[in-house]
Amino acid sequence: MTSFTIHDAPVHTEDERAAVLSDPGFGARFSDHMALIEWTSEEGWHDRRIVGYGPFELDPAAAVFHYAQEAFEGLKAYAHADGSVWRFRAEVNADRFQRSCRRLGLPELPVEDFLASVDELVTIDRDWVPTGQEQSLYLRPFMFARSPFLAVKPSTVVTYAVIASPSGAYFGGSGVQPVDIWFTRDFTRAAPGGTGFAKCGGNYAASMVSQQEAEANGCSQVGFLDAVEHRYVEELGGMNLFVVTDDGRIITPALTDTILEGVTRTAILQLATDAGLVAEERRLALDELVEGVDRGTFTEVFACGTAAIITPVGSLKDAEGQHTVGDGEPGETTLGLRQRLTDIQYGKADDIHGWMHRI
Ligand code: COI
Repeated sequence: MTSFTIHDAPVHTEDERAAVLSDPGFGARFSDHMALIEWTSEEGWHDRRIVGYGPFELDPAAAVFHYAQEAFEGLKAYAHADGSVWRFRAEVNADRFQRSCRRLGLPELPVEDFLASVDELVTIDRDWVPTGQEQSLYLRPFMFARSPFLAVKPSTVVTYAVIASPSGAYFGGSGVQPVDIWFTRDFTRAAPGGTGFAKCGGNYAASMVSQQEAEANGCSQVGFLDAVEHRYVEELGGMNLFVVTDDGRIITPALTDTILEGVTRTAILQLATDAGLVAEERRLALDELVEGVDRGTFTEVFACGTAAIITPVGSLKDAEGQHTVGDGEPGETTLGLRQRLTDIQYGKADDIHGWMHRI
């Protein structure tokens, strides 16, 4: 059993916490504590502890600043009506974190440590789990290289940390608001053999300029095409993409080493199958997507991710034009899957797949 030393040092007053919980936003405010584990090539994983949330002291030469040797995860803790707090499929995040770290030349954190760090942090910061509609405590485990050297080689000193952020809707606003997606032709996110499947800062850094392009074109997310043929839809800046068809299918790009295997993505494939839809994981050309939307055979499009949950897509846009999905409003299947998923996460429906774990 992994054990953490607790240094109980809350950094906020009760009034500050109440202010955060009354209007959490997304990912901008943080709870009282963080979980830490250190790793060196000589000692392995050691010094598991919970400390007050606060800045790290890092050498300016720390490898993460120069070569982005870093990986992260995203998951949530949910408050149920009876006051209990639960996590959703955290083992899947723990496994993916190992795959990301392996690709980045970082040490693999044992699954047991990952789960214990999350549970310890949520337990001590339980009062930070918001209870409002579709709110949650967003958990951000991450690992970074801190060896102070400028040679390009894997770090021998690494810190793993988990921070927690009371969160509401990723895109802000209330209710389920459709977003518009900008498909960039100028940039790609990931190439075969690269780091696209890993959840690492570098992939997101590479998406920032195209996210700016999306915003300049009035869209709130960027969509990327594959880096070889520049034809096939891969994923969005921070989420996966699904299409619903008029003949009972649900389509999402098949996983390759350029696409992140979303934890919400696989849950949706399962829930869609449960609901009698035929789930297709395959290549999806942007031309096919746009044609299907224009013809009305692709009736709904939605984005998904831990942060985004399921967010309907109102329109697809690129340099050649804009294509409204259906009537631009959230579709029935999208809303149904979203309800089913959140009912499980918030303990309002039977957890028939065993996805929830009480903390
Ligand atoms: C998540 O959905 O948890 C993500 O990591 C996406 C984004 C906030 C980076």
